[in-house]
Amino acid sequence: MSHVSEPSVECVTIPMLQRWKAEGRRLVMTTAYDAVTARIADSVVDMVLIGDSVGNVCLGFDNTLPVSMAMMNHHLEAVARTKPRALLVADMPFLSFHLGLEETIRNAGGFLQRGAAAVKLEGGAKRIEIVRALVDCEIPVMGHLGLTPQSVNVMGGFKVQGRSADDALRLLDDAWRLQEAGCFALVLEGIPAELAARATESLEIPTIGIGAGPGCSGQVLVFHDVLGLTRAHRPKFVRAYADGFQLLQDALSHWAADVRSGAFPESQESYRLPEALADPIANWTPPSVKA
Ligand code: KIV
Repeated sequence: MSHVSEPSVECVTIPMLQRWKAEGRRLVMTTAYDAVTARIADSVVDMVLIGDSVGNVCLGFDNTLPVSMAMMNHHLEAVARTKPRALLVADMPFLSFHLGLEETIRNAGGFLQRGAAAVKLEGGAKRIEIVRALVDCEIPVMGHLGLTPQSVNVMGGFKVQGRSADDALRLLDDAWRLQEAGCFALVLEGIPAELAARATESLEIPTIGIGAGPGCSGQVLVFHDVLGLTRAHRPKFVRAYADGFQLLQDALSHWAADVRSGAFPESQESYRLPEALADPIANWTPPSVKA
């Protein structure tokens, strides 16, 4: 049996991303948490991240810490069912890679079995052994450095990282070590633009920035932020390209007003009985209730 297939739409692969970085083509990634957002994003971006940001964006949590593997699997499966051409990256949630290599591999491998092409995990030098073990199991890993939201308690809030000499140099070391351990790309979040640019030029693998300036190999923003779908505080690195919240609420209000006024539904939005049934239906009487 041949294992080589020629898909009609070319899917994005990890070697393509490496080539695009070398060619200077900027990479685009956004999040998707369900089939609707995945279908909107797929033809536009190179990578779709099933981010643990689903916790604060969609599930009403204050941060990503309560997000579990079960939640991530549920959202990944919804996205994967759309069979996207973009590369699917699934985010390893808090505590899914902290309790031993075996459990980490099972969790990450489960993501691949559900349709992800790669996993992402937060952290630097401490994660080298984990990255090596995953890569050893043919599980591609995207690293994530800088403002790593799962470390919110250690950082004392969602604060820009890498501003002191020690922090900046540690980040450059970590980026290098993650590349050496086998990461195929790195997310750089919430760090000074100069630091992100230095990391990017020193690495062979692509960097995907979020709040890390224009010098990265690509950019990622949360889907709901790009489309202005949330009313939450918007950090300065977010540029909303639509007021999606207002747009959708206006459309919904229009529909609600039409329902209340009787303008919805109209006859073309209704099903009709065959004419032959008009009389039996009009002459129907309720059956007598038996005691
Ligand atoms: O969970 C997420 O959405 C992320 C991106 C912001 C990089 O980690």
